[in-house]
Formats: sequence, C-alpha cells, structure tokens
Amino acid sequence: MRYSLTLSLPLLIIATSTSCTQEQDELLARGTYLMEGILACGNCHTPKSADAVPIADMRFAGAFVIEEPGVKAYASNITMDDETGIGTWSDAEIIRGIRDGIRPDGTLIGPPMPSPFYRNISDNDMRAIVAYMRNVDPVSNIVPASEYGIPLPDAWGPPVGEVPDVSRDDPLAYGTYVTVALGHCIECHTPMVEGMHDFTRTNEGGRVFENIFDLGFTVISANVSPHPELGIGTWTDEEIKRAITQGISRDGREHLPAMAYPYYATITDEDLDAIIVYLRSLPPMPAD
Ligand code: HEC
Ligand code: HEC
Repeated sequence: MRYSLTLSLPLLIIATSTSCTQEQDELLARGTYLMEGILACGNCHTPKSADAVPIADMRFAGAFVIEEPGVKAYASNITMDDETGIGTWSDAEIIRGIRDGIRPDGTLIGPPMPSPFYRNISDNDMRAIVAYMRNVDPVSNIVPASEYGIPLPDAWGPPVGEVPDVSRDDPLAYGTYVTVALGHCIECHTPMVEGMHDFTRTNEGGRVFENIFDLGFTVISANVSPHPELGIGTWTDEEIKRAITQGISRDGREHLPAMAYPYYATITDEDLDAIIVYLRSLPPMPAD
C-alpha cells in the first residue's frame, strides 16, 4: 500500500503540472493569435513613426492620438507598467475594462476604444487575452487625458457577465463573432451620424477618418456590403481575403492606413471564411 501511494503521487503531480503548462501554452497561443492579429489593439495602442510604422519598443504603450469631430482621444498605455500602464489591474478588472469599457475606478473608457464590439468576446478568449497581456513588456509612458466634446453614456450597456464560446459549427454565428466581436470591422465600415453609428446601414462605408494617424490626409472607409456595384457583392472570396490580409483592393490599389490589414495578415483561413460568410449575409447598402 505504502509503495503504491508513494509511487502514484509523483506521477500524479507530473501529470497535473504538464496539463497546467499545456493549458497555459494553449491560452498564450490563442492570446497571441488574437492580440497580434485580428483584435488589432496595436492599431490604436502602439504609437507609430511619421511614416505610419509601429514603433517596436513602444508596443501597446499608448499616447497615440485619434481625432474625430468632438473627440481628441489618446489611446492608453496598456502595458503592465504599474505607474503609467495597467500593471496594478486584476485580471477581472482588465476583462471589465475591455468588454464593459469601465475602469477599476468606475469611469467610462471613451471612444474609439471598441468596447461596444469587444463586449461580445467570450470568457475563454478573454482569459487568453489577459494571459498574453501579462507577458507584454512594461513600458513607462505617460498618456495625456482624452478630451470629449460629445456627450458620452454612463455605460456601453448592461454589465457583460458571462459570454460562452460561439460554436464553429454554425458558420454565420461564428462569422458574426469573428467579424463583429473580434475584428470590430463594422465599427469603421458603418457610417456615423452625429457621432453615433447608423447600424441600419452597416458596412455601407463612408466613415471619414480625417488626418488619420496624423499623416496629413483623410481616408474614407469602403463599402464592404454585398452591393454589386458599390460594395463587394461580385468580388471572389480570394479578392476579399487579399483586401483584408494584404490591403490590396480588387483593382490592385494599395489601401491606406486605418484599415488594420497589417494585423489582419495573420487571420487564419478558417476565420477569413467565417468573415466572408458574415459579410455576404448582410443586405446590400445603400438600400434603394
Ligand atoms: C480604435 C482604436 C482602439 C482599439 C482598436 C483598441 N483601443 Fe483600447 N483604447 C482606445 C482609446 C482611445 C482609449 C482611451 C479612451 C479614453 O481616454 O477614455 C483606450 C483605452 C483602453 C483601456 C483603458 C486603459 C486605462 O488606463 O484607462 C484598456 C484597458 C484598453 N484600451 C485595452 C485595449 C485592448 C486590450 C484592445 C484590443 C483588444 C484595445 N484596447 C483596442 C482605443 C482603442
Ligand atoms: C480602423 C478602421 C477599420 C477597421 C477596424 C476595418 N477597416 Fe476595412 N477599411 C477601412 C478603410 C479606411 C478602408 C479604405 C482604405 C482605402 O480606401 O485606402 C478599408 C477597406 C476595406 C476593404 C477594401 C474595399 C475596397 O473597395 O477596396 C475591405 C474588403 C475591408 N476594409 C474589410 C474589412 C474587414 C473584413 C474588417 C475586419 C476584419 C475591416 N475591414 C476592419 C477601415 C477599417
């Protein structure tokens, strides 16, 4: 008896610690896929050089300014620096910050932080995101407070609570999850009316980004609805995938920044297929 106990115990410990690190590895791999890809957090949170190239040692360190009518937003430092970043936030506080758009002190995180879209991210993906964020190098960088000349709500919606995974066996449900929650594509591709998205015209395009990334020019989001002439209704799947991952339009023109194609470059083929199912499921815009 004694022998069997002493023998089985170390085995048990080895078995648990292996599955623990394996689970941690899987979480980190998923977190890396999301955070260095489709979520495109760095599109706003990583400052860029004058020619729009992300500054490597300032990854996620913020202070990048985004200006829209009534908005001068500075993307926060979301590294684990205790003083100037979010190093002191608990896992639950980080998850609430991203999904609910509420800081630990109860204040609202303002636009264009895409919490209204990220609120649909599943609990398991949030755990992966936090696992990744805890591994990002802390960078000390003080970010000025954003200025909002437009009215902001008290919250972006009721408290998020629990969000289950979306089954990959349901192509439209999974495509909606990948496009709306993770890629927040409709955030840029839906026109704004008086500072609010007009979701009756989802993916009609026409959202104006003035002086984007401080590069001195204006870019307007494209119509990515299935409209046969104005949208992507007659594009092949391969043409749509090339635009998303390489920033090349159907006619070969290279897209300007704002469109987050440098991040979308790593989206898996399965997720691209899901995005296309979702895009093709929407009504053509403008509706005549
Ligand atoms: C479209 C631009 C944009 C994207 C994409 C974006 N953010 Fe933000 N985020 C902002 C802005 C702007 C703020 C500051 C808002 C304010 O000042 O109220 C912010 C604030 C935050 C905060 C609050 C930090 C603090 O100290 O108050 C967290 C946490 C955060 N973002 C995490 C993320 C993560 C994680 C991602 C990717 C999953 C992400 N953001 C993607 C623009 C963005
Ligand atoms: C931060 C804003 C932003 C986000 C997020 C964004 N886009 Fe875009 N997208 C743009 C802008 C702006 C353009 C137009 C660029 C240009 O004309 O040079 C564009 C262009 C495109 C085009 C090319 C259309 C054409 O006629 O050439 C496609 C397709 C597209 N986006 C799909 C997507 C998908 C799918 C996602 C999500 C995975 C997404 N976009 C997320 C801003 C965005």
